[in-house]
Amino acid sequence: STQAQILVASNRGPISYTLDEKGTLKAKRGGGGLVSGLSAIGPEAGALWVCSALGDGDREAVRRGVGEEGVRMLDIPADVHEDAYNGIANSVLWFVSHMLYQTPLEPAFDAEFRRQWASFETYNRAFADALAEEAAQGAAVLVQDYHLTLVPRMLRELRPDLRIGHFSHTPWAPPEYFRMLPDDIAAQLLGGILGADRAAFLTQRWADAFTDCCHAVLGPGIPSGTRIGVHGLGADADFLRKRSHEADVNERIVALREQIGAGRKAIVRVDRTELSKNIVRGLLAYRQLLEDQPSWRERVVHVALAYPSRQDLAVYRDYMAEVQRLADEINSQYGTPGWTPVVLHLKDDFARSLAAYRLADVALVNPIRDGMNLVAKEVPVVSDEGCALVLSREAGAYEELGEDAIVVNPYDVSGTARALHEALSMPLDERAERTKRLAGAATALPPAQWFLDQLRALDA
Ligand code: G6P
Repeated sequence: STQAQILVASNRGPISYTLDEKGTLKAKRGGGGLVSGLSAIGPEAGALWVCSALGDGDREAVRRGVGEEGVRMLDIPADVHEDAYNGIANSVLWFVSHMLYQTPLEPAFDAEFRRQWASFETYNRAFADALAEEAAQGAAVLVQDYHLTLVPRMLRELRPDLRIGHFSHTPWAPPEYFRMLPDDIAAQLLGGILGADRAAFLTQRWADAFTDCCHAVLGPGIPSGTRIGVHGLGADADFLRKRSHEADVNERIVALREQIGAGRKAIVRVDRTELSKNIVRGLLAYRQLLEDQPSWRERVVHVALAYPSRQDLAVYRDYMAEVQRLADEINSQYGTPGWTPVVLHLKDDFARSLAAYRLADVALVNPIRDGMNLVAKEVPVVSDEGCALVLSREAGAYEELGEDAIVVNPYDVSGTARALHEALSMPLDERAERTKRLAGAATALPPAQWFLDQLRALDA
């Protein structure tokens, strides 16, 4: 096979396969910044995306040799992937970077952790081997995210000729938190990324935290040629504006409007049902708003689109159940025959997300911690009539959008309730002005440019 000049590596690839009862494979294309970034350089550039088979459908596709040009899926043994993805990446690394542990009991880095860590190494090794095999002499390799932290170092040892970049889509924890990890593991993670020519982040804050961790764990004298970069991924305005006016989105607007009720304002949120997104405190704040400001009763609806994510993990299933329970509780406490205070949708539906963006009066983006948060950037781009943004200061997007958002401490439920009141009360002309400025800031670095900037920076 001919070798690739540009390679991207990530756990989740741009395409996935499902297997129906008859044994037929169906392909589903994913979205997101990386997909549009890569499509900007075009297949003729000889780009290859290396990703992991994630489910039975994907594995079957690899076995049958079904695939798409420019994508190589790795059929890593299911038990190894389970330990690496759910055990290490989504439980340990995600929890550290988003600071999600309840520390009196967790984490406990024991023998089970060490066993899973060995799988994480095997899984990273499989990526490094595949990349080493597929890359042309001197090719550029862009390794994505916390799942593949060890890959840059492993790949560097196999192929010193390559130009390697690593990009973190998550926050990075400060040293006091990061050093919860056993010393050797902390050193291995940092050393893994330092195998790259360039380590890049979504904001300066996360880049600084990474550098601080390197000094704290590895010492100031560690020789490393790794450059640090920041690329604040923005919204894809062209795609979003076009997509959000297609027929299916218009249909969803009609349906949502019906659920909200005529003349009412909508506080919208759209997230994966993810521990770091802080959906529960958002609901608590909304309930407090109804309690403290009774004039909003019957005049506002909280539209929460909370799509399932990482449901193999019990804490995520429990969290989703709590979101559902609390929404029901608020509806039974405050609801009236003509008014449902919380409209909760748990089934993933991109057209409905866009519809909710368009009609939102207020967007609630209150994560505990978030690498960037693209919802905060997408809403102002798509909004029909302007939308007030309530934004957590712990989201990466805060660095670019903080000025025109109403900023909250995500733990402060009462403060968030006040912010919702302020957002609902914002004069419409001010709201439209702010939305325009937010949209400008949100689209400063569209995905294609974000991707090209990284390639260029690797050359420099
Ligand atoms: C975050 C991570 C991505 C990940 C996504 C969805 O945005 O940075 O790497 O793909 O969440 O999570 P999942 O576990 O479903 O891939």
